[in-house]
Amino acid sequence: ADKILVDGFDRKVDYLRMSVTDRCDFRCVYCMAETMQFLPRQRILSLDELYLLAERFVALGTRKIRLTGGEPLVRSGIVDLCRRIAALPGLRELCMTSNGSQLVRLAGPLFDAGLSRLNISLDSLDPQRFRQLTRTGDLATVIAGIDAAHAAGFRHTKLNCVVLKGRNDTEVNDLVRFAIDRQLDISFIEEMPLGAISEHRRGESFCSSDEVRARIAERYTLMESAESTQGPSRYWRLAEAPDIRLGFISPHSHNFCGSCNRVRLTIEGRLLPCLGNEHSADLKAVLRAHPGDPERLEKAIVEAIRIKPWSHHFQVNDEVQVVRFMNMTGG
Ligand code: GTP
Ligand code: 5AD
Ligand code: SF4
Repeated sequence: ADKILVDGFDRKVDYLRMSVTDRCDFRCVYCMAETMQFLPRQRILSLDELYLLAERFVALGTRKIRLTGGEPLVRSGIVDLCRRIAALPGLRELCMTSNGSQLVRLAGPLFDAGLSRLNISLDSLDPQRFRQLTRTGDLATVIAGIDAAHAAGFRHTKLNCVVLKGRNDTEVNDLVRFAIDRQLDISFIEEMPLGAISEHRRGESFCSSDEVRARIAERYTLMESAESTQGPSRYWRLAEAPDIRLGFISPHSHNFCGSCNRVRLTIEGRLLPCLGNEHSADLKAVLRAHPGDPERLEKAIVEAIRIKPWSHHFQVNDEVQVVRFMNMTGG
């Protein structure tokens, strides 16, 4: 019979989010500090180790893998890694979450390598504000990357937008317009309290999904939709543009923990059963101590998933609840 990973609350875990690097060419204000110390080479998983771990998860019943970061496309050898993982028998979807900065160059090769779908972060359509939010990003390059993804053959691309009060909350309807024009799905995300970022005060910038929907309702007719990816998003559609989906990721106002189907692998090889929790299992240590012993690795994975906690307990304030930065966590 087909294998399947199940946690202690009988939730089926068939979705793995794998971070392939902690590095990024952007420094988004909600994700990183202005100057970051990245991990030394020996502490991060090699491309072969990433592949071996993906192979074990798929053998244990993982059906969807999403590559995250940092920015996955700054890891050299990433296209080849995608090709190897995409070919694993049993895997249904290999997805990636990217900031879009390298897609003009890499969208074609990634599509050819078998990547199924892309989520691309886009927080502003104003070049200056885009630069302020990402600190180093260039808006025109990212928009060219979004268009390159379409030209390369990618469909069902989704935009990710973290909404911050006083920064980009007034742009929500422009972003909806952009998504409609390009026939892309778009998710609006409540900021999460990961990593201490001294220059950025989360209590002041927090914007709830209810507030975002109220803005959209000023211009469009929102219809709640029953669709689910068993993920954090709750979906809505617009009467004016019924082909695209609007997702709302609201860890504060609505957690989806009860139907959670995913775990994360950090670039240090730690398996995080829950995003909002410091608990982890050191799979890199198992892999390096017992090379060529896939059963040891499988046992460690099964045990780590069995103790996946019931839910996170994020709150809206400036206290850091999880010390890990998002780039270490894997989005
Ligand atoms: P799908 O794989 O299509 O469901 O995409 P996704 O929206 O889950 O993935 P993406 O990488 O685009 O993430 C968008 C946002 O959702 C990011 O800010 C993630 O941190 C957040 N997110 C993803 N998984 C979880 C989770 O388990 N818990 C919470 N609270 N947020 C999550
Ligand atoms: N809160 C919410 N979302 C975040 N992301 C990064 N940091 C945070 C945070 N603190 C999002 C990015 C990207 C995805 C990888 O994670 O917008 O879409
Ligand atoms: Fe880089 Fe994504 Fe973090 Fe921005 S949110 S700094 S693009 S990893």
